Amino acid sequence: MTVPSPSRTKTFELSSAHDWWRQASVYQIYPRSFYDTNGDGLGDLPGITAKVPYLKNLGIDAVWLSPFYPSALADGGYDVDDYRNVDPRLGTLADFDAMTAALHDAGIKLIVDIVPNHSSDRHEWFREALASPAGSPARDRYIFRDGLGQDGNEPPSDWQSIFGGSAWERITEPDGTPGQWYLHLFAKEQPDFNWDNEEVRKDFLTTLRFWADRGVDGFRVDVAHGLTKHLPETLPPEIEMPGMASEHGQHLFWDRDEVHDIYAQWRQVFNEYDPPRMAVAEAWVHPSRRARYASSEGLGQAFNFDLLTADFNAAEFRSSITKNLAESNATGASSTWVFSNHDVVRHSTRYGLLQEPESSQIPVAETGAPMAGGARDGKAWLLAGAPEHQLDRDLGLARAKAATLLMLALPGSAYLYQGEELGLHEAAEIPDAQRQDPAFFRNPGVDIGRDGCRVPLPWNAEDSAFGFSTTDPHLPQPQWFTKVAAESQEADQQSTLNLYRKALSRRRMLQGPEELRWIEEENPQVLHFARPGGWHSITNFGDTPAPLPLGLALLSSGPLAGDGTLPPATTVWMTC
Ligand code: NOJ
Ligand code: CA
Repeated sequence: MTVPSPSRTKTFELSSAHDWWRQASVYQIYPRSFYDTNGDGLGDLPGITAKVPYLKNLGIDAVWLSPFYPSALADGGYDVDDYRNVDPRLGTLADFDAMTAALHDAGIKLIVDIVPNHSSDRHEWFREALASPAGSPARDRYIFRDGLGQDGNEPPSDWQSIFGGSAWERITEPDGTPGQWYLHLFAKEQPDFNWDNEEVRKDFLTTLRFWADRGVDGFRVDVAHGLTKHLPETLPPEIEMPGMASEHGQHLFWDRDEVHDIYAQWRQVFNEYDPPRMAVAEAWVHPSRRARYASSEGLGQAFNFDLLTADFNAAEFRSSITKNLAESNATGASSTWVFSNHDVVRHSTRYGLLQEPESSQIPVAETGAPMAGGARDGKAWLLAGAPEHQLDRDLGLARAKAATLLMLALPGSAYLYQGEELGLHEAAEIPDAQRQDPAFFRNPGVDIGRDGCRVPLPWNAEDSAFGFSTTDPHLPQPQWFTKVAAESQEADQQSTLNLYRKALSRRRMLQGPEELRWIEEENPQVLHFARPGGWHSITNFGDTPAPLPLGLALLSSGPLAGDGTLPPATTVWMTC
């Protein structure tokens, strides 16, 4: 079966300046854990500039930079104090410009994270809201409500925040009395903006232009489905509300149709630039509703997390790929693929966990939110207490490499997360006292949090902090980093790092129109597809060798047997 090719692919040009993002390989940098240049244990922007040669050598097309704005780090920087500045611990605006220039000189685009659903509680607008009376214009930029009960000392509703605990926090009024409550769908340090407020809307347009003027090529939009809210006078109890990914757009705050008016406005701003700025939505919505985020009148692209939440399973992979390619054909956007990011257990570890969590042990959040999704919750919790015999690291890594090689052969954008090119596993052994994630603190004993995938990268095996910093890193690194440090992988042609380099460079050479044709295999554990130009990708998901067609092997995720078979948990690229 061939996924129908829309007319746009007929005019495909690899160098199209406007469409650079359609099949880009995008590398996510979590800046505080990438590389530290001033010895404070925190990665910084000059650290990214210093590593541009590494990024160029890796062969990526773009960097997606997680928040680098001033922040108290209540949520890893997703609590922004000032949207148009750089955290002084990470550098200055001049450092940002130098980093952008260095990336551009190396032919690498830059996508920055924009966090429009909430600011931090240290944002000047929130401080002004606290200092102003109830009903004031300053309070109207956020979502304040009187409490219930006699003294207003009960929250306006029983809604739970994504990180656990109430989604409402009570403030102290300027005169010292207990006062109103504000809504925070995430941590209490992340008050939700009121997107019915014109000032909020205008200010984000200013922010988008601020970064676009500085040369930023695109934006990753955090919680893109959460901005517009419709909160009636009497708020319904949580139990009466549909899940986050409701099919009908009737939720009071997730995925409401009005949110697209905002993105239509943003699109006008993006199109003021040449080439137009791109955007990709983080929208955990029902698949049938993803299209609007990805429309060319809106953000233009949306993440699908289907492969990220799938098991290493041929049927699941095939159905996700088929559905998503059909979806992108319908919207005109290109597909997005991702296995790992800063919110989930690294895929090499997920695929190596031999036991599924028992459902009774794992509370499944109603919202189905990313942080509460199957990819982290259950598996991270299991990992936290998992004896080593429940984790087969080698199998996990072999599967992860096979999955990644398959992904890099797919039409659309591939999003990679720092450290996966080193084959890093989740760092499970972080003492509680050193954990940082609010998901851990707000769910004692239930959610281990996301710190395990945010541990600073190992650059070499000899120096302090594995070459990341001259001092203790802000999150502790495990001893096994010695074996996976980037420099130690340089010389080894079979290393994960060199596999990523070879794959990314071949992907560039082989890339053609956004088309894929499935080749039927007798063995249901084998997925085989072809791209235009005779580029075949074949993956063995099973645990016994599978016969290979005749052809020339270009690259494989693990050693080939040389007997015409494809070993288990292996992908090969061939020309047939
Ligand atoms: C999604 C981000 O990826 C995550 O890290 C963050 O905690 C939430 N949005 C809230 O901003
Ligand atoms: Ca630093």
